Amino acid sequence: MILVTGGAGFIGSNFVLQWLAAQDEPVVNLDKLTYAGNLRNLDQLRGDARHVFVRGDIDDAELVARLLREHQPRAVLNFAAESHVDRSILGPAEFVRTNIHGTFNLLQAARAHWSGLSDEAKRRFRFLQVSTDEVYGSLAAGDAPFRETTAYAPNSPYAASKAAADHMVRAYHHTYGLPTLTTNCSNNYGPFQFPEKLIPLVILNALAGKAIPVYGDGKNVRDWLHVDDHCGGVRKVLEAGRPGEVYNIGGSSEKNNLEVVQTLCAVLDELRPAAKPYASLITYVKDRPGHDRRYAIDASKMRRELGWQPAENFAGGLRRTVSWYLAHAEWALSVTSGEYQKWVSANYQERGAA
Ligand code: NAD
Ligand code: DAU
Repeated sequence: MILVTGGAGFIGSNFVLQWLAAQDEPVVNLDKLTYAGNLRNLDQLRGDARHVFVRGDIDDAELVARLLREHQPRAVLNFAAESHVDRSILGPAEFVRTNIHGTFNLLQAARAHWSGLSDEAKRRFRFLQVSTDEVYGSLAAGDAPFRETTAYAPNSPYAASKAAADHMVRAYHHTYGLPTLTTNCSNNYGPFQFPEKLIPLVILNALAGKAIPVYGDGKNVRDWLHVDDHCGGVRKVLEAGRPGEVYNIGGSSEKNNLEVVQTLCAVLDELRPAAKPYASLITYVKDRPGHDRRYAIDASKMRRELGWQPAENFAGGLRRTVSWYLAHAEWALSVTSGEYQKWVSANYQERGAA
């Protein structure tokens, strides 16, 4: 079996669902269920003995050691993290604790567990760190996309915490020989994404007739990848990636934020027409401090070494995503009550759009 952390979050839950749809190898899913974790994402697995859910913290040394001892997973995949850049700007401490110390704790436990395995089991064991393209910093228009060899230059507390964790993963391979793998992926979108992130936030605000907040001039560029393709890439890396290596995963689908927002509005105009075009809700608001201008990924190593490439294009994936949010209004309602409203006022009020 495998141990997945953060498997009740956006990417983690999509990964667990995809994994168990493709094979029977069980999953132990360790998740703290922060505001971003939601067991409803895993409803389809209720009563499925192949999925063992454990509520807990990756930074809990005793718990992680016990899970490794009891379940003897052949791999640990670390999706758990504080993942929202704006939250890291307003409150970085939790990012340091979970993303840096939590990953360190997992590495320590994995190393202790791995050291006691037979030679064959040791050879097969993997520790896979799910990381981000944000560790590479910001590109100017015309710069070459990030490669695995691009120097780290993280700019936000979130990116810095992920970068620190990646360095620890690298060190555990280099120093102790732990068979690690690291993936650095671009912006994901798809079902179950918490509506603090751009795409679901725009969909839900538009449907509620609220302002659609665009930071700065709306010209910041992101490379978008459907979450199914990211999860497929992680599975490939786990299966065939070389220990100690880093793999960049991306969609070769660069869009500026305004293009993304306008496309979402056009799809909504078609699928759920309202009295006025949704684009009339677009509101420019104060920029994110230190806002990275552009991310782009060179995923040629994934293609060359592992035969991976995305199956979904942005237009099709975005349409599918809008349809999913339209069909899952109840899910959206369940995650946007209480705490979420507090976040919306904290982040958007002083930007003039709450
Ligand atoms: P998310 O915020 O939706 O989910 C994170 C999950 O981790 C939640 O279920 C939360 O409860 C859990 N968690 C948080 N702290 C924990 C802790 N201390 N112990 C155990 N569980 C904890 O995040 P996501 O967007 O699904 O991202 C998953 C991973 O992928 C993160 O490591 C992120 O850095 C990385 N990533 C995300 C993107 C993206 O576009 N969303 C792109 C590249 C990489
Ligand atoms: O690149 C990978 C990263 O992508 C992941 O590591 C992060 O976990 C994930 O959150 C994402 O980070 P971004 O900061 O790029 O995503 P976000 O959805 O927050 O913002 C996307 C872009 O849209 C960014 O340029 C900021 C802008 N934006 C965002 C929000 C929430 C707006 O213009 N308005 C908004 O209200």
